[in-house]
Parts: sequence; structure tokens; C-alpha cells
Amino acid sequence: MIDRRDFIPDRVYHYPSEDADLTPLERQDDPDRWNSLVASGDPVITRLRTDRLGMVWPSSSASALWVVRAMLDALAIEPGMTVLEIGTGTGYNAALMADAGARVVSVEIVPDIADAARTALERTGFADRVTVLTADGENGAPDHAPFDRVTATAGAQTVPYAWVEQTRDGGRIVVPYMGMAYAGALIALDVANGIAQGRAVCDRAHFMPLRGQTDIQPALRATPAGPLDRLRFTVTQSGQTITFTE
Ligand SMILES: C[S@@+](CC[C@H](N)C(=O)[O-])C[C@H]1O[C@@H](n2cnc3c(N)ncnc32)[C@H](O)[C@@H]1O
Repeated sequence: MIDRRDFIPDRVYHYPSEDADLTPLERQDDPDRWNSLVASGDPVITRLRTDRLGMVWPSSSASALWVVRAMLDALAIEPGMTVLEIGTGTGYNAALMADAGARVVSVEIVPDIADAARTALERTGFADRVTVLTADGENGAPDHAPFDRVTATAGAQTVPYAWVEQTRDGGRIVVPYMGMAYAGALIALDVANGIAQGRAVCDRAHFMPLRGQTDIQPALRATPAGPLDRLRFTVTQSGQTITFTE
């Protein structure tokens, strides 16, 4: 049993009441509140960013436990598999995947978040099974490819082709889609012959965006409409297409 408390930093952010702004919560100042938040299944925000307009957004978190579980189910990790994770965050997801028997390479774009995750993984005994790289995960981890599984814990409007290229034939990519109309669809794509194809496995999987995909991508305005259960994703070298089955 892996304890989320071992991965979450002492300073987190929460909404103290329904109409309050995101507020820092220090473990040493209010250990009971910190513990109850971290022990809950809720997402725990661990970092904020301020955008060009001065708006403050969560930029790193430990995800809600139901979505962590849904992603693990969709990944169907078997012992001995290699997994690429984009968005190390706290390192908790990476530890769960390592605990399922995978060898994990996890990429985090923010250097000190990556450092904190390395420390937590070391402390909890996962450092030999999880390699944390500090880089832009949209490029994958070419020096460590191919992977049996690729997962992102930051939302994508466009699935980078690098992830498809770095997935072994017969492998799978699981990523929260944050494009227009279907934001929050968790998509699972199976890879064969350099093409990834798949569908949504659940919705309400809302994630903070990949660093390079924070702006709404205008091309997605042309996304056709249809029911989620008929949504189909295809990612090839020429790009991503969304269709609906009859
Ligand atoms: C929801 S958090 C990840 C949760 C994490 N898996 C855990 O177990 O705590 C999303 C993370 O993705 C990182 N991120 C965003 N864009 C990225 C990118 N292009 N490459 C790598 N990491 C990225 C953020 O800095 C943030 O730490």
C-alpha cells in the first residue's frame, strides 16, 4: 500500500470555503487539515502558475484517486512492461505503476518539481524502478524508447506524434483529452504500424494542460459533434483526427 502522504509536499493549496480563492495550506500550521485533505480521494493542488493576464491557475497536483485508478485500469500494466509518463508531479502515479511491476520513465517540465519527486521516490524505495527526467514531455523520452505504455497526467488537445513513435507495436497510450467539446475525455489509443487509434474510456477526467498546450487550439473548433461513446481518435504522422462511428 503506497501512502500518498509520502509524495505530497508540506505546502499545498486548497479552497478553505466554497467562495474562497485558492489558499496555501502548510502542513506544520494545520496538520489535521493537511492530513484530511491528503488522505481524501480528492485532487491535491501542489503548485500554482500566473498567466499573462495575471490569472492564477493550478499547475501541478496529485490527481483525484478515482482518475488515477481509471488511468491504471486503462493502461493494464503487466510486470516487466516499460512505461513513459508525461507529468511526474509528486511522483505518486509513477510509484503506483512501478508497484504494478513496470519500469517507469517519467518526464517533468518543472525542474524543482522533478527534484522533489526524485527525493520522494528515493525515500519510498522506488528510485531503482522510476527514472525522472527534467524535460518537455511532448518530445517523449527518445533515449529510453520504445515503451509498452505511454501515459500523460497533463491534458492534451493534440496528442504529440512523438508519443506514438515511441510506443511499441501493440502498445497503448492513455491520455486525458482537453480539446474543445470533449474536454475531460480519458482516451486510450492502441498503437500499430505507427498509427494510434482508440476511444474515450471515461469522461470528467479534467487535467491541467501540458505546458505547451495551454491556449485553445483554433483548429479544434472544427471538431465534429457526437456522443462520447462513438468518439474515435486517430493519430498519425500527419496529425490527429476525431470521428464518430455510425
Ligand atoms: C496533474 S500533475 C501530475 C500528477 C502526477 N502524475 C502525480 O502523480 O502527482 C501535471 C504535471 O505535468 C507537468 N507538465 C505539464 N506540461 C508538461 C510537459 N510538457 N512535459 C512534462 N511535464 C509537464 C506539470 O508541471 C505537472 O507537474
